[in-house]
Amino acid sequence: MSSVNSNINSELFNRSQKVAPGGVHSPVRAFKGVGGSPLFFKSAQGAYLTSVEDQKYVDFCMSFGPMILGHRDADVQNSVLEMINTAWSFGACEPYSLALGEWLQNEVPHLEKLRFVSSGTEAVMSALRVARGATKKNKILKFHGCYHGHVDNMLVKAGSGLAGEAVSDSAGVSAEVADSTIVVPLDNIQALEKAFAVHHVDLAAAIIEPLPANFGLLPQREVFLQALKDLCLKYNVLLIFDEVISGFRVSIGGMARILKIKPDLVTYGKILGGGFPVGCYGGRSDLMELVAPQGPVYQAGTLSANPVGMVAGLETLKKIKTNSVIQVINERTKNWTKKLSEAFQTEKIPISITQFGSLFWFYPNSILMNEPSKLSISSTSSLLSTPITKISNWNNGYPRSIEEFPKNTADVYKTFFHELLKRGIYLPPNAYEVGFMSYAHTDELLDSLIEKFVEAGRISAKI
Ligand SMILES: Cc1ncc(COP(=O)(O)O)c(C=O)c1O
Repeated sequence: MSSVNSNINSELFNRSQKVAPGGVHSPVRAFKGVGGSPLFFKSAQGAYLTSVEDQKYVDFCMSFGPMILGHRDADVQNSVLEMINTAWSFGACEPYSLALGEWLQNEVPHLEKLRFVSSGTEAVMSALRVARGATKKNKILKFHGCYHGHVDNMLVKAGSGLAGEAVSDSAGVSAEVADSTIVVPLDNIQALEKAFAVHHVDLAAAIIEPLPANFGLLPQREVFLQALKDLCLKYNVLLIFDEVISGFRVSIGGMARILKIKPDLVTYGKILGGGFPVGCYGGRSDLMELVAPQGPVYQAGTLSANPVGMVAGLETLKKIKTNSVIQVINERTKNWTKKLSEAFQTEKIPISITQFGSLFWFYPNSILMNEPSKLSISSTSSLLSTPITKISNWNNGYPRSIEEFPKNTADVYKTFFHELLKRGIYLPPNAYEVGFMSYAHTDELLDSLIEKFVEAGRISAKI
């Protein structure tokens, strides 16, 4: 069992707080959601992170998604080293982005044309600008609980959404910008229909994570996503799928392929750069041809299509395809979460798991917390991994909107997280972030962790 030597971490964190706001360069890293000082890591390999105190942790955060092959995959590493020995930035035309771009066009039919940028946020910001430029309309509809990066008008959750009285989640976002965002709850077709009926005249686009995975894991019913597509068509509103997490993880063509729903525009990041800063937006060529220099919508970037990211991304995607990585890790995740759920059930630990593909999310079953005698935890994992054609049957017994969360979600997770950390397991440091499986997490490794999860579950549920 690892023990966390908090002295070195605390010392580094104290110094970091003098350098960066909250000591971090992205908020969740500060452990605010789980308490305590964040760990500092010095290296990573396969499924493991190594801290500055030389403690090894099994990593289920995986840099929040990009490391689908595991850390420092040897093939990706070789392609990166080869590139670095050649050049690492041109600011000019080069063949590396062309190779990745053509690969993507071949594999993802709705990517008729695309543009590389340096992050998911940039991809979303640019896609929204294209949508406004194309439609000459200003408002964007988004869903409560979906995260689309730190674009001003996406930092908005539900106010009284239908009236457009959305309130920003962040200081520094003007009321005018927040007001241009219409927020609708997930999984509520009626609210969606109303929002379109009221706002369609001003709506440029509707944007959704087709597999919402930033406020827990909230797989949507197919009928809901189809209703969104139909309303977009009916009211002439562009549909944007934000596949920054789901792209290349649930399938090479993302959720769009699984659902057989064609978005007008799509955004990618994370896996696409193989762990380097790469984002991409693309879709219908008539829309993408509005982008400068071909069209009037301006968008540019000094390090866009950086060759190191391009070769890392292409090597990652090719390997995912050649080794059937998605199928392999989906199956692993399904089997493992099923075993974990069964172990929780046997031990009467009131924690449920939602699993979809290689993503998973732990949340407390609050009814069971209050009434232990009624214990009957059912793993949602088997429901969620039903074949694609049965998506409409997902509709049973697991949260699909943030309104359904048990009140004690964050509290239970804090203890669960720290108990696992003590046992050498690193989950994302926030109750609402999902867990990520990688190709480097073997069945043997996963099986060896079950007892540790049970111990942590017992302690966090106080049983
Ligand atoms: C669905 C989604 N969209 C956009 C973003 C923003 O991407 P980035 O952090 O690369 O700016 C994220 C990041 O987590 C995301 O999950």
